Amino acid sequence: MSKSLLLGTRNPGKLKEITNILGDSGWSFCSLEEFPNVGCADENGNTYGDNAIAKARFYASATGLLALADDSGLEVEALGGAPGVFSARYAGENASDGDRRALLLSELAKSGSTDRKARFVAAVAIAHAAGDLLNVSEGICEGIITLAPRGNSGFGYDPLFIPDGYNQTFAELPEDIKNRISHRSLALMQTKLFLLSCKS
Ligand code: IMP
Repeated sequence: MSKSLLLGTRNPGKLKEITNILGDSGWSFCSLEEFPNVGCADENGNTYGDNAIAKARFYASATGLLALADDSGLEVEALGGAPGVFSARYAGENASDGDRRALLLSELAKSGSTDRKARFVAAVAIAHAAGDLLNVSEGICEGIITLAPRGNSGFGYDPLFIPDGYNQTFAELPEDIKNRISHRSLALMQTKLFLLSCKS
């Protein structure tokens, strides 16, 4: 098996997290930036795992390379688990991260609930160009939603999420702490064990 892996995301925040965590696994990485003609994989699945697998298969078959892809989302208890698998499209297709954060806070205010519990969930899949699925792993990070956005680092819903055991949001915490405790990190740490176990 080749020890080179395509990272199937165009999200710079995710790319940075993934390479930080998998960087010393003995593999080399390339990203979709090197494949500008490859389109975007559909995300029509009902679970993070289904979407991660579909994306990994899509990017592997489009490039002929072994591909890793993830899918993730934020589940807010008072909103019945929303936005969940729809986190990226929560405020419509062309909305910004800021639009999604504003909608989430306004839906929570409308709900009248004082329950701020939430969790980030991630699934990471690796697929072969022939379509075989090689590995899937999942990670969960529990926390609460703030009353207003806080912090400038990270991406997406980071300024709204305080992980359990901390007082700062993901957008305020140092990157190395997020990289240790985030949903994606937990899934990627299992992925790393798989990559380390692969013979060249
Ligand atoms: P997808 O995994 O690319 O489908 O994105 C899921 C959505 O959840 C996007 O809107 C992301 O911004 C958001 N999301 C996923 N992981 C994180 C995270 O670690 N921090 C903040 N937002 C995230």
